[in-house]
Amino acid sequence: MKFRILAAMLVAASSMLLSGQAAAKVCELSIEGTDQMTFSKKAMTVTSDCTKVKVKLTHVGKLPKAAMGHNWVLTTKENMQAVVSAGLKAGLNAGYLPKNDDRVIAHTKLLGGGESDTVTFSLKGLSADEEYKFFCSFPGHSAVMQGAFKIKPAGKKS
Ligand code: CO
Repeated sequence: MKFRILAAMLVAASSMLLSGQAAAKVCELSIEGTDQMTFSKKAMTVTSDCTKVKVKLTHVGKLPKAAMGHNWVLTTKENMQAVVSAGLKAGLNAGYLPKNDDRVIAHTKLLGGGESDTVTFSLKGLSADEEYKFFCSFPGHSAVMQGAFKIKPAGKKS
């Protein structure tokens, strides 16, 4: 009898685990960078119930990384300028990003024309009340290659 109860509990626990996995929501976004030093999007939005966010950056131009490199970097709006400055100091070989910097929430590799890269990250620790920015940290690019990254509370309309 005791064994049966234990077995039933195990079945219940494993089905809970399975339903937990089924509830995972991967939100995919894509954006392009061009030889004209532009991003194809001015804003990107996800909902707060995304368990993971996947951003694919494609450099649709032809110019090499050293001349027209693009990456996709996510920080709070507050930290953006400081990360851009730190990236400038880090230099081309570091992909114009400081290493192991907590202010960088997510980033792709620095790309040249024809290349693409995808970054996957969790929204854990991020808040719908905070303002975030995505930008390219290549020197001079963030002035125009930037936009708002918005986390919309799940279930809320518009
Ligand atoms: Co760029």
